[in-house]
Amino acid sequence: MTVGGPQELTTYGLDPKRFTRSGQYNAAAHADALVTLIEVARFRDVKPAGDLAKALQYLIQHPHPRLQASALTLAGSWNVEKTAATVLDAARNDQLPVSVRAAALEAMVEMKLPASRELLVAYAANSNPAALRSTAIESLAVVDTQAAALQAAQLFAESDLKSLDPATTLAAFLNRSGGAQALAAALEARNLKPDSARQLLAALFTTGHSDKVLLDVLNQSIGSFRQTPDYSKRYVLQLVSDAQQQGNAERGKQLFKTVACASCHKVGGSGGKIGPDLTAIGTTLSAERITEELLWLNRQVKEGYSVVRVITDAGKIHQGYQRKTKESEAAGNLVLQDLATGKLITFKKQQIDQQQTTGSVMPGKLTALLSESQLLDLIEYLSELGRIK
Ligand code: HEC
Repeated sequence: MTVGGPQELTTYGLDPKRFTRSGQYNAAAHADALVTLIEVARFRDVKPAGDLAKALQYLIQHPHPRLQASALTLAGSWNVEKTAATVLDAARNDQLPVSVRAAALEAMVEMKLPASRELLVAYAANSNPAALRSTAIESLAVVDTQAAALQAAQLFAESDLKSLDPATTLAAFLNRSGGAQALAAALEARNLKPDSARQLLAALFTTGHSDKVLLDVLNQSIGSFRQTPDYSKRYVLQLVSDAQQQGNAERGKQLFKTVACASCHKVGGSGGKIGPDLTAIGTTLSAERITEELLWLNRQVKEGYSVVRVITDAGKIHQGYQRKTKESEAAGNLVLQDLATGKLITFKKQQIDQQQTTGSVMPGKLTALLSESQLLDLIEYLSELGRIK
């Protein structure tokens, strides 16, 4: 089915009757349809005809959480003013699941409701459950980045980050101009525990960002690191031969996870997908090349992995790999595959304020966190990947 003009949209998406068969209303199927409408709303300024407020209010009050959350998101994207009171009620209602309240908080911000900032500051404060605090902080980042940064730093310093999803919260800052700087300053004042800094670092990489200011602050909290000398062939050969003699692949395998390589790389089916799959890297790159990749990034960026960074006219930052399609070329649009979500995002020319190619996202200082003997373990592990022993 194609989703077209305003009238079709309403009939397609909002009317519960379309999702009722033999008197049985299928709320989950309806929620799926709303997700399609949300995607359309993000890309095209098409707003359905008819009494949107009434339809949305009905769905927001339905007890199916995904349906509620999607209806709230639509109220925000379409800026349906008459739903303001319902949106605020949902934001304040502590009986609702956090996912629904998160959507209400976002909608509230998108509709620029006057009460937003105050409510968000209250929910971001430390007496609330961590999940609510992080969603409030994410929305607050849009309204007041500085205040949000202070709350985020406090949350990260106090909580057990394993039970949070810090990547989403980090992304809320990294996707706004000035956000990374604000967060870095707030974190610096907090003196994070080394363990928390490590977890934030791993989370940061899964977002596909590696902003220098943040890396510096986190690295500082993690502790001392090794200075990498300038590139020299002799040093590479020395490391490779030391790795063969002293490196321990089993320890290297552990390091691959703790140093967050696995946030971006898959080995044998598990791991992230921002970087190339390394399952058989030992058979495609020589030990020398692997060592060079680890120590001097951007000497050779693998084809297709140069990051394009866009700042939109709304001040949002997107980072991704450029993907060319016939349609995009013809229309003059830019298509990016978002690093964090893997989704394709299309930008019209007039939406783009700045565009630059920034090289590899693989963070340079990462291996500097390792001691020399750990580096040897890692080199040994990678050079053996895919080889038959
Ligand atoms: C933020 C994501 C990210 C993290 C974290 C990361 N990498 Fe990468 N890595 C990449 C990307 C993207 C590329 C491809 C571009 C390039 O060559 O720089 C890459 C390339 C590589 C390559 C070369 C692969 C090839 O086929 O050319 C190796 C080897 C590698 N990474 C190892 C590691 C190791 C070991 C770690 C942990 C110390 C690590 N990476 C951490 C994103 C990451």
